Parts: sequence; C-alpha cells; structure tokens
Amino acid sequence: MLETKDLTIRFGGHVAVNAVSCAFAPGTLTAIVGPNGAGKTTYFNLISGQLKATSGTVSLDGRLLSGLSPSARTHAGLGRAFQLTNLFPNLTVLENVRLAVQATREGAHRRGLNLWSIWSDHKALSTRADEILTQVKLKAREHDTVASLPHGDQRKLEVALLIALEPKVFMFDEPTAGMNAAEAPVILDLVRELKKDKTKTILLVEHKMDVVRELADRIIVLHNGTLVADGEPAEVIASPVVQEAYLGVAKEAA
Ligand SMILES: Nc1ncnc2c1ncn2[C@@H]1O[C@H](COP(=O)(O)OP(=O)(O)O)[C@@H](O)[C@H]1O
Ligand SMILES: [Mg+2]
Repeated sequence: MLETKDLTIRFGGHVAVNAVSCAFAPGTLTAIVGPNGAGKTTYFNLISGQLKATSGTVSLDGRLLSGLSPSARTHAGLGRAFQLTNLFPNLTVLENVRLAVQATREGAHRRGLNLWSIWSDHKALSTRADEILTQVKLKAREHDTVASLPHGDQRKLEVALLIALEPKVFMFDEPTAGMNAAEAPVILDLVRELKKDKTKTILLVEHKMDVVRELADRIIVLHNGTLVADGEPAEVIASPVVQEAYLGVAKEAA
C-alpha cells in the first residue's frame, strides 16, 4: 500500500500540493485528474522524491520513504517512467532495456561473482529484455539507437524501462501526451495489461476522460493542490467539482 499523509509543498507563497492524504492499494488503478497547474505532476514528484516535501509523509507498505533519494525510492518499489535524459542515447533500444533489467536483478539479488551465474544471467537478461520489447511492440526497433527513435517509440521505450524495473507501484504522468492517434492505444493497451497483475498499484495522470472512465477503478481530483474528490469513476466524473474544473479548463482555452 502506497500512502501519502498531509503531503504538502510550497513554492514561495504558492502551495502547489496542499495536505494531500491518500492511500493506493495493490490491484487498483487510480486516475488523478484536474486542470493544468492543479499539482498532479508535483504530487508525483513528491512521491518519487524528485521534490522534497515542505511537510507530510510518503510511505510504501508501512515503510517511511520521506527523506530517501529518488533512486532509493525506486529500489523500494516506486516506478516512475524514466525521462529520456536518463537513457543512453547512443546505445540501442535493446541495450538500454538489458541494462535496466540487469540493474534491477543485481539490486534484487546482490549475488557474488560466479562465472556460471554470469553466463546464465546473460541468457536470462536477454530473454527478459526480449519479452519486454515484444510487450511494448518495439522488437522491430531493437537495434536502433535511442536518439534515432521517433517520439512515439521513445515513449514506448520509457514504458519498457519502467516494466524492467519490476516496481510495485507504476506512476504514469500523461503517458500518451504528444502521441498520435495510432500510437496512443499501444501505450493504453500496455497499461491495461499491467492492470491484470493484481499485486501492482497503478497511478495514472490522464486528461482524456474516455480513457479514464474505461481504465480507472477510482478517480481522485486535485484542484489548486487540494484533493477535492475521490471515488468511483462514474460518480466522480458526474460530480459538480469535476464538471466545473473541466469547464474551467475549457473557459481558459477559449
Ligand atoms: N519547481 C517549481 N517551482 C515553482 N513552481 C512550481 C514548480 N513545479 C510546479 N510549480 C507550480 O506548481 C503548480 C502545480 O504544477 P503541476 O504539478 O505541474 O500541475 P499539473 O501537473 O497538475 O498540470 C503550478 O502552479 C506550477 O507552476
Ligand atoms: Mg503535469
């Protein structure tokens, strides 16, 4: 169980995330919605440790993560999609995924040097990397360098690396942003696949309400950094607070 308690961050006088208390159970997909600037990405950054909270706590399975570095939180089981800046742009897609699988397995087992295990590990690493590339539909690109990939394939690779980490918690922040109509369903299918594993907790920031309605078990709404609604998708989408928040976005855009 991932839990935030009174999680808060201030930027100068602005409270971007305001005392958010929420728990996310394994086997559930929670969509986080709210207008631009509501604090959704900042909430993720506080959970993953990219930003330091002004006050409040983050815990996973009862273990306090507050104060830990982002990489220590990753080891604890929090999976945040890699930014492309974390990749090796001149290595191939396959090499990047293999490295991610390797880092995860080494972290998990901390096994000693043993030639037989190194050999069998290499096979196991390659097999696992291959499975993941098939899963995210990047097999055809495995020998291309990351730098040469089109945008949509880079996003798929980000998901591949997230899967390679084998986290307990998957955090997706607008995973289909900037993708075309043909590419977006591939990512959403992946999220749908991940959802079948009832030991995983999934958090998804997504603007498209049809996507949210279909995928989410639960929706929470952030508005001006505050948690203003939490419940079943149909109920939350129909609530005045969501209707207003999205009407607000429409007004701003007009
Ligand atoms: N590093 C930062 N420094 C100052 N203000 C920030 C920083 N990061 C986010 N903010 C502010 O916090 C608020 C929430 O932003 P964000 O979490 O990106 O919103 P969302 O992801 O919901 O669109 C915005 O007002 C934004 O300008
Ligand atoms: Mg955002």
